[in-house]
Amino acid sequence: MLSLASEKRLRMVMAPLVVALVAAVGGGAIVGCRGEISADPPILPIRNMWRVARYNPQSTSDYFPDQRSMRLPVEGTMSREGYQDNAEIATGRTSEGYSLMIPSRMVDQLGGTAEMLARGGERFKIFCAPCHDLSGTGNGMVVKRGLQKPPSFHEDRLRHIPDGQLFATITNGVRNMAAYSAQIPIADRWAIVSYVRALQLTGISGEQK
Ligand code: HEC
Repeated sequence: MLSLASEKRLRMVMAPLVVALVAAVGGGAIVGCRGEISADPPILPIRNMWRVARYNPQSTSDYFPDQRSMRLPVEGTMSREGYQDNAEIATGRTSEGYSLMIPSRMVDQLGGTAEMLARGGERFKIFCAPCHDLSGTGNGMVVKRGLQKPPSFHEDRLRHIPDGQLFATITNGVRNMAAYSAQIPIADRWAIVSYVRALQLTGISGEQK
């Protein structure tokens, strides 16, 4: 225990020190926060993952023999979105040739016939109608501007090709028509097939073909 006298003396020494400390911290806070932006890195006592070793895009690397920091995917890599374990759904073909009908598993996956048609119609208008036009006769806006006119979907030959062949046509392209596998996912391609079939059933005939 301190004696009464020495306690008093201690308080006399401490008081100015506490005042000075409060003044320093308070004054520093006021002077320090002037709304200015600082380019200095912030002071982080616990840095965690603030700083992580990484390469800038296109930069070189001494680690790899070819000096490129940007690596190619491992050979055989395929996208998870594009992965399809069912060969018929992925290609429109079975060992006997083109699938005659849209695989039923695909119809289920698309939520049934009505949903599939609705989706297919929406996608058709985006991806096909610019050339094939909304009714499929092949007089789309792009054709009016000079591109080769595609055949009408209402021709007998195209009315009778299997569903799988329609799918493969969208997937791989045909002669002067480009492939759409990169833009249109597998399920949407099948949905478009169902919509083309529906268009063909509307039975545009004669002159309009
Ligand atoms: C940029 C214009 C263009 C777009 C977009 C386009 N096509 Fe075509 N399509 C063509 C042309 C041109 C042909 C004729 C190709 C040829 O015979 O050289 C064709 C041909 C076809 C054929 C006939 C194939 C055959 O066996 O003769 C089908 C079916 C077809 N397209 C479906 C589609 C579908 C479905 C879409 C939408 C996913 C689509 N096309 C998008 C231009 C287009």
